Amino acid sequence: MRNFIIDTDTASDDAVALVMALRQPDIAVKAITVAAGNVPLPMALQNALYTVELCGADAPVHAGCAKPLLRELETAQVVHGHDGMGDIGLALQGRRPADGHAADVLRDVIAANAGDITLVTLGPLTNVALALLREPALARQVSRCYIMGGIGAGHGNVTPTAEFNIWMDPEAAKIVFESGMNMTMVGWDISWKYATFDAEQADEIRRIGTPLAEFAVDIQATLAEFSKTENALPGFDLPDPIAMAAAIDPAIAEYGEFRVDVTTGEGLERGMTVVDVLGVTKRKPQMRVAASADRQAFVDMLKRSVS
Ligand code: BDR
Ligand code: CA
Repeated sequence: MRNFIIDTDTASDDAVALVMALRQPDIAVKAITVAAGNVPLPMALQNALYTVELCGADAPVHAGCAKPLLRELETAQVVHGHDGMGDIGLALQGRRPADGHAADVLRDVIAANAGDITLVTLGPLTNVALALLREPALARQVSRCYIMGGIGAGHGNVTPTAEFNIWMDPEAAKIVFESGMNMTMVGWDISWKYATFDAEQADEIRRIGTPLAEFAVDIQATLAEFSKTENALPGFDLPDPIAMAAAIDPAIAEYGEFRVDVTTGEGLERGMTVVDVLGVTKRKPQMRVAASADRQAFVDMLKRSVS
């Protein structure tokens, strides 16, 4: 068994990534820690708790930060729906998270499994940064951190050059990127190139006919519309699931090792991931960056997890 801890701002694509990990027979999800991002924290918690329950899993879900370290929260409800799960009428109320703040849980679970724990981040890096500020040694205890965030090459989805998770809390991202952890970044470019589903491809998954297959597709209702009108994609894309796929099976992608910095300015200078492709800064690479992915292997893994 491999131990995972997942940090998420649970909305529609995070939920599918959670399903993939929770349904993987050789992975023990030790904890799910939740931060505000796509939706406000209470909503993200309900979405994570609902997803865990639907999977029949027992991973504990913990509440973390309700806003970025220094900035105000600006949610992505226009992308994922008011409830973050496509506004399709799911009963997303009344479930209770486990005790313990996400930053404490990250510290304790990582320390308890030092050297044998994969951290997967699917949202703004606020909780992870807070945990690292309190206990910098965590960086050496994590086997590898898979980060859905940033852009390896190409354009952004919030500004022309920034991706939502990094843009939302760039100061947190900077702390994590400079922490010394073993890290793999799966940027939004990998998602729109290899993890986009048009109506026919989505229907193929839905036709698997299980409650999980229907859930995985139906909760993308708002995202599907947004992806077409605002992101010029043929259908919805699944950034968090393809990052999760890389964490489950790193062979699903190909990578380069680069120095990657995060910009913490304002406007166009907020939350960029600056990849030093040619090594012009002469600084040691600290990030494995996904450059391409095997779409078919990803789709097969996704289908298996909801079958
Ligand atoms: C990221 O932002 C959110 O919309 C998704 O859940 C994903 O984590 C993509 O930019
Ligand atoms: Ca997310």
